[in-house]
Amino acid sequence: IALQQFNTFGIPARARRYLRVEDPAQLAQLAADPALAALPRLVLGGGSNLLITHDEVDLLVLHMALAGKEIVGETPDAILVRAQAGENWHGFVQWTLEQGLGGLENLSLIPGTVGASPIQNIGAYGAETKDLFHSLTAFDFAGGTTRTMDAAACRFAYRDSIFKHEEGRQLAVLDVTFALPRAWAPNLRYAELARELEGIAEPTPRQVADAVIAVRRRKLPDPAEIGNAGSFFKNPVVSSEHCAQLLQSWPNLVHHLQPDGSEKLAAGWLIDQCGWKGKALGRAGVYPKQALVLVNNGGASGAEVLALARAIQADVQARFGVLLEPEPVMV
Ligand code: EPU
Repeated sequence: IALQQFNTFGIPARARRYLRVEDPAQLAQLAADPALAALPRLVLGGGSNLLITHDEVDLLVLHMALAGKEIVGETPDAILVRAQAGENWHGFVQWTLEQGLGGLENLSLIPGTVGASPIQNIGAYGAETKDLFHSLTAFDFAGGTTRTMDAAACRFAYRDSIFKHEEGRQLAVLDVTFALPRAWAPNLRYAELARELEGIAEPTPRQVADAVIAVRRRKLPDPAEIGNAGSFFKNPVVSSEHCAQLLQSWPNLVHHLQPDGSEKLAAGWLIDQCGWKGKALGRAGVYPKQALVLVNNGGASGAEVLALARAIQADVQARFGVLLEPEPVMV
């Protein structure tokens, strides 16, 4: 089956085996069949954090299309809302706002599905999935059973969770439950978002969402128009000594002190300094408004995007001594 419309980079790869999953029972059937259960799998959501580097994918692609969202309960501090893995993330966030529930507004307009949100602990504008996360249900291919996982079990970190590691390979997220606070306050830690809301003394969750949407539309390419997977690299963390040394040559270096004393650098700034912004290698390019986003300028193969990523990594490494780590899942 052609995967081009199932990955936002628009890479024209093909999969040998594909199953659209609309009912968890399909996964149980699969796990019960030894021949099928033994096949290497790719659990696919919106395909918006994925780079397929080969033309032919020799994996069983499980396209998660489970649908539904509902308010499921409450705690003294929060309302619990649950969405099935195949729900569109932005649609879910807007739905919570329509229910009068704030909390997820800073994560508006992030492409992809609800089921993918815990995988890389999606984050933007000072918020992360883990901040509002309550629990999730995952199907475990090893035992053919489902299990409930809390935040600790998911091992959330910056753009990371258990699902990106070997121990999580056997799991497919079925649904995610969020705890949205009864006592809501806007999260305006990100300076550009605060600026966008200047003049509004007490913004509502809807107004914050609209500001986030405006900022994102200004800086980030719409995958429906230009193929991309958002930030292509994680923001790298370096020691305070390394940072101090870099600051001597680069006084404008963007850096943020971390709780453990290390420093997080802005990968976009590093790439920009190397002169890559707006440049291309073959049909793969660097987005002119945000150097951290690699784009498909039309017809690029996964190998071409990978070649561009490697060239950028090499330049950043040579100039700053920092190895940029790709953020999307590589297949
Ligand atoms: N910068 C440059 N040149 C560039 C791009 C950025 O100098 O071409 C500088 C900016 O001026 C700023 C700094 O780098 O001082 C950081 O840039 P920005 O605020 O745009 O955020 P980011 O660190 O590049 C991260 C996330 C985004 C998220 C934004 C907003 C990562 C890998 N990326 O980007 O997430 O939307 O912050 O919170 O953490 C994604 O993961 O796909 C994604 C888009």
